[in-house]
Amino acid sequence: MYRALTKTNFLIKTTSSFKLQNTTYTKKAFSTSIVAKHGHLHAPKKGEELHITFVLKDGSQKKYEVSEGDSILDIAQGNNLDMEGACGGSCACSTCHVIVDPEYYDKIPEPTDDEDDMLDLAYGLTETSRLGCCINMNKDLDNIRVALPQMTRNVKSSDFE
Ligand code: FES
Repeated sequence: MYRALTKTNFLIKTTSSFKLQNTTYTKKAFSTSIVAKHGHLHAPKKGEELHITFVLKDGSQKKYEVSEGDSILDIAQGNNLDMEGACGGSCACSTCHVIVDPEYYDKIPEPTDDEDDMLDLAYGLTETSRLGCCINMNKDLDNIRVALPQMTRNVKSSDFE
């Protein structure tokens, strides 16, 4: 998983070439790009901290100080909570399903059609369900509480065959 990777993880690229009948051929074997680390959490600036509480599957709660703009998916994954995020936050699965405290539900911008479509496929959908990758923290959401559902469903194209 991405969260297990650090900046020291990367793939190695080597290039070799050889000549054959006056033509030089280049053979690429590996890539050198640094692996993109999922989750882009920023340390909150002093005095600008926002707060979020996750209610975990066992009923325990974890509260974090976060920055404006961080998505709930990134916050969960950055803190090693059990949120899969199978599509990498592109609103194409539903494994980042969260159940939002009703007190905060109406403070979140309306879901897009894409989010609604994915939510329809989420396991254990509730009236206040949303996708964690589609919610970014802002001042209105300070102290929001979200619960992780007992199960999530990763919908793949093969599910429709
Ligand atoms: S991570 Fe796939 S929909 Fe949010």
